[in-house]
Amino acid sequence: MISVAIDGPSGAGKSSMAKRLAADLGYTYVDTGAMYRSIGLYTLRQGKDPADAAAVEALLPQIHLDIRVEEGTQHIYLNGEDVSEAIRTEECGMAASAVAAHPAVRAFLLDTQRDLAARQDVLMDGRDIGTVVLPHATVKIFLTATPEARATRRLAELRQKGQPAEYDKVLADIRQRDYQDSHRAVAPLRQAEDAILVDTSEIGIDESFALLKKTVLENI
Ligand code: DC
Repeated sequence: MISVAIDGPSGAGKSSMAKRLAADLGYTYVDTGAMYRSIGLYTLRQGKDPADAAAVEALLPQIHLDIRVEEGTQHIYLNGEDVSEAIRTEECGMAASAVAAHPAVRAFLLDTQRDLAARQDVLMDGRDIGTVVLPHATVKIFLTATPEARATRRLAELRQKGQPAEYDKVLADIRQRDYQDSHRAVAPLRQAEDAILVDTSEIGIDESFALLKKTVLENI
């Protein structure tokens, strides 16, 4: 089986580019962030604090996640409900980042993630795919951009969706998420030693995609 691991901070364009590249290569795209977001969503819905390790751990036996690919798109079902859209809010992103710091949550998702890669060729994106989930991935990419470049893109995206947003707040959220994701004790965000760095700070989306694709194809 071939596996392409793409890690990097939030807002670097990982998921949109990974999705497109997986379709081009004919691999299954696995969005691991969606799994953490679903646990974050469930925690919020239960009125619990995502930062409370014991409270979140106690919820895990009630959570059943199902990943299905429908018409080439990954859908994630939380206890039978398709939450693929509901998990895309900033609030869920923050909750995901908080629950992702708990070792029990990471252990809960690890087997599912490895099973998906064992059954088919995958392009998997996340924070710890090259370092922890698939340490023997065929190709590892660390996709990044400066916080300022990511904030500018995120702001444009939010405004396009008609959601009011301020640059300073978006930048502060990105910095906070970077800090949380890279300073946790378990499986922190970091570039694997054998990962190839792709920095998209100075280039647009099409050029970034072309660079990513070229880098993956040269190393597969
Ligand atoms: O990629 P994303 O924004 O959907 O991820 C949401 C959060 O989930 C992110 O802030 C950190 C966490 N996450 C993680 O810890 N490990 C992964 N493999 C994927 C996501």
